Amino acid sequence: MSGSWWRDAVIYQVYVRSFADADGDGVGDLAGITERLPYLRELGVDALWITPFYTSPQRDHGYDVADYCDIDPLFGSLDDADTLLAKAHDLGLRVIVDLVPNHSSDEHEWFQAALAAGPGSRERARYIFRTGRDDGEAPPNNWASVFGGPAWTRVGDTDQWYLHLFDTTQPDFDWRNPEVGDLFEEVLRFWLDRGVDGFRVDVAHGLFKEASLRDQVLPEGITATSGQVNTDHSMVSRELKDEPMWDQPEVHDVYRRWAKVLDEYGPDRMAVAEAWTQTPASMAAFVRPGELDQAFNFAWLLADWSAAAFADVINGTLAAVEPVGSAPTWVLSNHDVVRHPTRYGGGAVGLARARAATLTMLALPGASYLYQGEELGLEQVDVPPAARQDPSWFRTGEVGRDGCRVPMPWGGSAAPYDFGPGTGQPWLPQPADWAPLTAEAQTGQPGSTLEFYRTALATRRAVLAGAGADVELLPDLGSDVLAFRRGDVTVVLNCGSAAVPLPAGEVVIASGPVEGDLPANTAVWLR
Ligand code: GLC
Repeated sequence: MSGSWWRDAVIYQVYVRSFADADGDGVGDLAGITERLPYLRELGVDALWITPFYTSPQRDHGYDVADYCDIDPLFGSLDDADTLLAKAHDLGLRVIVDLVPNHSSDEHEWFQAALAAGPGSRERARYIFRTGRDDGEAPPNNWASVFGGPAWTRVGDTDQWYLHLFDTTQPDFDWRNPEVGDLFEEVLRFWLDRGVDGFRVDVAHGLFKEASLRDQVLPEGITATSGQVNTDHSMVSRELKDEPMWDQPEVHDVYRRWAKVLDEYGPDRMAVAEAWTQTPASMAAFVRPGELDQAFNFAWLLADWSAAAFADVINGTLAAVEPVGSAPTWVLSNHDVVRHPTRYGGGAVGLARARAATLTMLALPGASYLYQGEELGLEQVDVPPAARQDPSWFRTGEVGRDGCRVPMPWGGSAAPYDFGPGTGQPWLPQPADWAPLTAEAQTGQPGSTLEFYRTALATRRAVLAGAGADVELLPDLGSDVLAFRRGDVTVVLNCGSAAVPLPAGEVVIASGPVEGDLPANTAVWLR
C-alpha cells in the first residue's frame, strides 16, 4: 500500500469497554478485540481505532490515564496488546491507538507528586495550579468544565486550585512546561516501537490555554458554570465564540514535533486530531504540511437531516482541506454523540436515513470513520438512571453519553448477546429487544444493515478506488435532493418526504429498496 494509506481508508472505532469481553467480567478487553478481528476483516474496513486501554481509574472510561505506557488490568496486559497488533497486521488491518495528552488522571504519579509537593514546586508546574480569587475562596477564572460545573477544583482548604477542562479527576497538563512535551514524545515512541500504525489525538485543540488564563467573555444569559459554551463546538457556527481555553496557536508546535517523530518511523504512521474547532479553516490548520495527517470533521455529525445542510458540509469541508493538501475525513457517529439513526428520528425512518447518509458519506473522497455497532443499525439506548456512568451525568444530571456505549450484541437471544461468556448484563445493560440486531442474526440476511455495510464497503473498494478527489455537486434535482458525481459514479440522496425520479444510469448500490423512483430517505449510487 502507498505511504498514505489513511487518505481513503475506512476506519472502524472500537470502544474497548463495549466491543467484546473475552474474560467474562462484563467489560470488553483486548483479547476480546483480537477474537473479533476476523469480523472486522470480513466487514471490509482498513483499520481500527481503539479507545484508551491504559492504566486508569476509569472515571472517564479510560480518558483519564494514570500510566500511558501500560495496560489497565481490566483490559489485559502489554502481551495482549502485542498479540492484538500482530493478529491485526496478519489480517491486513492497521491499528490506531488513542492518545490523551490534554490531561492525565488525578492518579497519575505526576499529579500525586504535585499534590504532595505544594505550591511553587517543580511537580506542580506540570499542571495548571493557580491561586483562587477572593483570597482563594473562588476559582481563578470563570471557565466551565465540558462536563458541567466549574473547570477548577480547590486543593483542600488552601488558596490553590487546579484546572480541569473535563472531570475533576482529569487535571490539565501545562504544555508550556517542556517536561510535558518530553513525556509525550516518549509515549509516542513507546507505542510506535510496539508497532501501532497511528494515534487518535484526544482533545487535540486543547493542549494550550491562552497564557493569561483570563476570563472567557460569555454571551449574555449564559452563566460561567453552565458548561453550555464549551460543549457547543458547532463547526458551522456563524458567530465565533470567545474561547481562551481552546485552539491556541502554540498547539501547532506540538504537532510539528510529533510529525517529525512519526516520520522517523517511516511514511506509514499517522495521527488524526480530535479537534472541535469553530471553523473548517481552523480544523484544516491541524493538517497543514508538517503537522498531523487527519482531523475529524464533525460538520456532518452536527448537521440536521437536510440536503442543503449536507451540501454545505461537503463544500465547506472540501474547500477547507484542499488548500493545505490534506484529504477530508467524514464521521456520522462516535462514542461521544447520539447514534445517527436516533439523531435522524429513530425507528424505521431513522434507520433508513442513517443507511442513506452512510452510503452517501462512503462515496466521498477521503477517509470515513465508522463507530462500532452502526453496522448493526444500533440506536441510542435509553440507559436507566441507576445504570448511568458518564461523568457528565454525575456533574450535570443530564443524560450523557452512555446510550451510545452499550456493549455490542454478537449473537444469542438475551443479554449479554455473546458480548462475553457468562450470563447477565454487562457493564451497561443491553435492551431486551436486541436479538434481531445481533451480528449473528443479521449475517446472511438480505437487506440487513450488516450485509448492507459489507456490500457498501466492498462496492466502495471496487468502484471508487481510483475515482480521485473531485466532487461535482449536481444542484438540479430539487431542494430535497443531494446529488453529486465522483469519477463515473453519481450519488443521489433523497432527504425529502416523497419519491423523486432517478437520473439515468445503472444502480450500483442503494441504501434501501429502489424500484423506478428513488424513495424518501434513500440513497443510491448510479453508473
Ligand atoms: C474526548 C473524548 C471523550 C472524553 C474527552 C476527555 O472528547 O472523545 O470521550 O470524555 O475527550 O478526554
